[in-house]
Amino acid sequence: HPSPSPQAETTSMPSQQVFDTKDGAVYTTSNGAPISRPYAVQKIGQSGPLLLQDFHHIDLLAHFDRERIPERVVHAKAAGAHGYFEATHDISDLTCAKIFGKVGTRARVTMRLSTVGGESGSADTARDPRGFAIKIRTEEGNLDWVFNNTPVFFIRDPAKFPHFIHTQKRDPQTHLKDADMFWDYLSQNPESAHQVLILFSDRGTPDGYHHQHGYSGHTYKFVNAQGDWVYTQIHVRKDGGFKTLDNDTAGRLSGENPDYGIQSLFEAIEQKQYPSWTVYAQTMTAKQAEEFRYNVLDLTKVWPHKEFPLRPFGKIVLDENPQNYFAEIEQAAFSPSHTVPGWEPSADPVLQSRFFSYPDTHRHRLGTNYQQLPVNAPVVPVANFQRDGQGTFVSQGARPNYESTISPLTYLSKPYEGKEAKHEQWIGYAQYELSEINELDFEQPRALYQKVMTDTDREHVVYNLSVHMKNIRTPAIRDRQLSVWAAIDQSLSDRVAKAIGASPVKPLVAKPAAESWRLKTNIKF
Ligand code: HEM
Repeated sequence: HPSPSPQAETTSMPSQQVFDTKDGAVYTTSNGAPISRPYAVQKIGQSGPLLLQDFHHIDLLAHFDRERIPERVVHAKAAGAHGYFEATHDISDLTCAKIFGKVGTRARVTMRLSTVGGESGSADTARDPRGFAIKIRTEEGNLDWVFNNTPVFFIRDPAKFPHFIHTQKRDPQTHLKDADMFWDYLSQNPESAHQVLILFSDRGTPDGYHHQHGYSGHTYKFVNAQGDWVYTQIHVRKDGGFKTLDNDTAGRLSGENPDYGIQSLFEAIEQKQYPSWTVYAQTMTAKQAEEFRYNVLDLTKVWPHKEFPLRPFGKIVLDENPQNYFAEIEQAAFSPSHTVPGWEPSADPVLQSRFFSYPDTHRHRLGTNYQQLPVNAPVVPVANFQRDGQGTFVSQGARPNYESTISPLTYLSKPYEGKEAKHEQWIGYAQYELSEINELDFEQPRALYQKVMTDTDREHVVYNLSVHMKNIRTPAIRDRQLSVWAAIDQSLSDRVAKAIGASPVKPLVAKPAAESWRLKTNIKF
């Protein structure tokens, strides 16, 4: 019978039984009874019908029928591994999170690196942002960083997310991916242009999953023990820099080895070439945020490094491959709402919506008790009043299921030890809000194209865009997107137009940035 190997003591998931595959286990039924011939079925005589009493056979088929769980609606294709976070600098002036307070503190992590739009069998080298999810198992609970490999995102209005994602999925009738759908959405929602420009540079085709940086994208908050807070953005930078593929190499690899990224990460770890990253924070006070040129709650914008320098505070190393991909990576359930004291959300509406969406989809994908699965279970005891439900592993024993004063096993919640932070004060009427495009939206992508990119980068952007945009069938959609590129840089638009055989177009004219666009709270400075 399988028995936990000694490795179980040291694995990143203490509650996970690690099975030694060379343990000489005897084949059994699911209730553990030995079976001598796994392929045999019970029949009447040699050729007669099967018997309902053959539990082994019926259970085999019934379990097989249920092997698939829903794949993630986005980020279905991924690689993953375990490793550790280590605090390299004390940032207790910024946050009371214990994991970041003392140099040398370590926590085991699980990282899942994914593409976004494709199904779980799609190619690793597809042009797509990459998900960059990290579960940090701290002594104050699990902190999930559910980041991407780009510092900005396509949207700032959360209700657009499902629509935008649908345009990258299959057409309802043809069941084909469709360039018209994709560019129809993007050209009508040009706040996406910053992210789309990054996507169509070679950073949209990273070389494998582990040669890339990760970014919080969103603004979060660090809160320290005195209750003081700052806005923060996190950057997880690959040691040795990121690596990319050019468009044609990525396309070739999609056919030759769709699992190129999974394979290269797995093999790097097997060969003890452990990928590592340095973790930095950018911070901004509430007052700086209100004086900032851009709104910190708008994740289509970056914070310039010169104004808000990167402060290092940790490193992440991946040093352990999963023993079982399904249990340890597919069942991993990350959520931005899995936070610890000292790490809080900002009022970014996309982030706030994500706080709802992830636990909701996990309950659908994995069940109510997804936090009890070994890969998701915190390394500290969970003590609350949640009980029962499908897939319960631990229901907190005999502990009372309400805040009891009579049970000998009673625990009452401890008062909060730190000073409560005094956050922003929000005042206003309940109203529907939708952002509008303004000229600020084109400044950062323009600087990226004109100042940060090299001539070769620009050449690749034009080529990568033309390869994709030449599939647009509807001229109005093509011209609308060309007008977005012209608003960023006329020569970019003209070069793409020429490459796809279209005529030059004039720039989209955006409104001037209104004062109402700036962040305004009721904090008295
Ligand atoms: C995965 C929703 C924006 C990063 C997912 C999943 C959903 C989702 C439903 C599947 C989760 C699962 O089944 O386990 C949303 C919504 C968004 C949004 C509603 C906006 C309103 C973002 C943004 C980022 C991001 C802005 C990054 C900054 C990720 C990552 C994963 C993911 C990394 C994969 C997690 C994993 O590896 O399991 N998202 N998302 N998402 N999302 Fe988002």
